[in-house]
Amino acid sequence: MTVAVYLPVKEKIQWWVEMLQGLLPGWTIASIDDIEDVASVKQAVVWRPRPGDLARFPNLEVIVSIGAGIDHVLADPDLPKDVPIIRTAGDDLTQRMREYVALHVLRHHRDMPRQLLAQAEKDWHAIVVPVAPNRIVGVMGLGNLGAASAKTLSDLGFITRGWSKSTKTIEGVETFAGADALDRFLSGCEILVNLLPLTDATKGILNADLFGKLAPGACVINCARGGHLVDDDLLLALEARQIKQATLDVFHQEPLPTDHAFWSHPAITVTPHVASQIDAATGGRLIASNLKEFVETGTCPDMADADRGY
Ligand SMILES: NC(=O)c1ccc[n+]([C@@H]2O[C@H](COP(=O)([O-])OP(=O)(O)OC[C@H]3O[C@@H](n4cnc5c(N)ncnc54)[C@H](OP(=O)(O)O)[C@@H]3O)[C@@H](O)[C@H]2O)c1
Repeated sequence: MTVAVYLPVKEKIQWWVEMLQGLLPGWTIASIDDIEDVASVKQAVVWRPRPGDLARFPNLEVIVSIGAGIDHVLADPDLPKDVPIIRTAGDDLTQRMREYVALHVLRHHRDMPRQLLAQAEKDWHAIVVPVAPNRIVGVMGLGNLGAASAKTLSDLGFITRGWSKSTKTIEGVETFAGADALDRFLSGCEILVNLLPLTDATKGILNADLFGKLAPGACVINCARGGHLVDDDLLLALEARQIKQATLDVFHQEPLPTDHAFWSHPAITVTPHVASQIDAATGGRLIASNLKEFVETGTCPDMADADRGY
């Protein structure tokens, strides 16, 4: 029984192979490209597998995504059907995302980009903003990351809204469920955080139509997937001052091409998909524990649902 490992950065593969080997003594862990006996592979641990990578293994029983989303696995047109997928969640990932969301919501709330500009001009320019209890923030997606982030924003004092597919109850958060409730969720929202999974239903959801439903001059934070955002719609909304500022952690193409307009836009903060990058050692322990449990029982707490896309 062999566990096949793949990540796009070649130098990282061997590190992951050795780390998982240490955590799973007695198992055989190997880089996907070194495996000749394809029939021996029953598990695969992957980040952004290449199309066709997983179809090589006729006896594959489970795929583990090194990350919370599974869109990068489902993107493979040759993905073997009906092989269960485990995602990698956990407290480490949630804590990191809460920190990122709090940091960037507060930056926009206090207009730090404008304040830093004033400093650069040696301009003693006091920016007075409403207090958090007079500011409406909204979180799209109330899963592990969205629910915890919404709770953090509520604890900071913001009027906090959350939007998900099914109804949720989160202390201090006004929740909205389903497509019919989206407009009410967006109306008056001054800072919007996207933490949806990328699915057919959510692709391109951050578009001109949605921007037009936010409060005029709202800020947008996308820390989910680049495919959620229609890039040109954001640029136009910023030009029209309909959107004041944006923080983007994820992009259609990563790394973000050096000639992309986002890099040098004065109202956009770019971070390189670091909102919540799991610490590899912590991630490895979670993956090993999930794999052991799956092999013993046929399930584990972090099972994803390929049919719904997350
Ligand atoms: N930038 C980074 O570093 C980073 C790190 C980790 C993850 N991420 C991204 O963050 C995403 C969210 O992660 P998570 O672990 O919080 O996901 P999750 O636990 O799977 O939760 C997804 C949430 O989105 C909601 N949702 C899904 N489709 C929807 C729709 N069509 N309309 C309304 N709500 C919908 C779900 O509603 P229900 O609860 O009702 O099903 C759920 O609340 C991941 O998929 C990944 O893309 C980014």
